[in-house]
Amino acid sequence: MKTKILKPSLMAYLLAGKLIRKGEIVAFPTETVYGLGASSQDSGAVEKIYKAKGRPQDNPLIVHLDTPKKIKKYVKNINEIQQKLINAFMPGPISIIFDRNDKICDRVCANGPTVAIRVPENIVARRFIHFAKRPICAPSANTSKRPSPTIAKHVYDDMNGKIPLIIDGGATTVGIESTVVKVDNNKIYILRPGKISKSDLEKATGLEVVEKLTATLIPESPGTKYTHYKPKCDMVIVKTNSTKKICEIYDDMLSQSKSPIIFCCEDNKNKYDDRKVVVVGKDSNEASVHIFTYLRDCENNDLIISEFFDKGTMVEALFNRMSKSASGNIIE
Ligand code: TXA
Ligand code: MG
Repeated sequence: MKTKILKPSLMAYLLAGKLIRKGEIVAFPTETVYGLGASSQDSGAVEKIYKAKGRPQDNPLIVHLDTPKKIKKYVKNINEIQQKLINAFMPGPISIIFDRNDKICDRVCANGPTVAIRVPENIVARRFIHFAKRPICAPSANTSKRPSPTIAKHVYDDMNGKIPLIIDGGATTVGIESTVVKVDNNKIYILRPGKISKSDLEKATGLEVVEKLTATLIPESPGTKYTHYKPKCDMVIVKTNSTKKICEIYDDMLSQSKSPIIFCCEDNKNKYDDRKVVVVGKDSNEASVHIFTYLRDCENNDLIISEFFDKGTMVEALFNRMSKSASGNIIE
């Protein structure tokens, strides 16, 4: 199959809509990462997503809508807290778990009783969903285990020949995936951290927010138990940000004729003399925008040695992704 890349235009949206209604998959930009979309009501199309990504069968997909008004069509009910979350954060980088009705096919939800719903803020995403005339289920548009795609080229690199169309809306602005939340017993649980933080959720609802980022979340958000965001090379995060330690690891690699590279924060770029560095951003927010691009761009080195990005509001969300990229190789 030939994979077309089109810039957003009426023609692109009309073609994308046709493809979706024919049971094909289309990649599209959101403010977080690019998604691989199909009709949530066509199990054959949903199956194609799992196949194109090589995704484990028990990992459910997020359903994307173009407006929060449509959520009620696909869920059993919306409680008061869920409504508060919708009012405060949608459209935006959040996915909320609801009890689902039978309008979404079982395959999307991995046969479970709930569905994650997201209304992206990105206008290209919303127009695409609008022209599809269907609720669009979409995982990140990478091959399973690879870093998520934040530009159309990343999608093309992973999906060329496997999907008919990529809508190229430019670079995404948040850079890491949505915050996934669930409401239970008057508490809000964060199943996956993202730009919308614990304190944002607390401020908007006045409720207790629990970060369920341990083994206990495994049955609740199956995606979190798999290897994720892996560059081809090894990676280590030096959590103390000790310049001495980072230089030691770097020099040791060099002495073995290996090629290391350092991921650092803007403020620290001059600390490493003539060693090879990539400035990922000035804080966790900026680093989140670029992290997946640099993981893909730098994976031909032998080792990525990264600082810990401890400033900004996305410290937790970024570290959640990066510690997975590093397969838990953290030096405390
Ligand atoms: O920002 C995003 O959320 C992006 C863009 C494309 O919207 N999508 C995305 O999808 O990250 P994916 O499939 O890569 O990650 C979805 C996560 C997985 O960890 C999955 O297990 C969890 O959401 N999830 C989906 N449905 C769920 C459900 N009903 N209950 C609990 N977790 C769910
Ligand atoms: Mg993903």
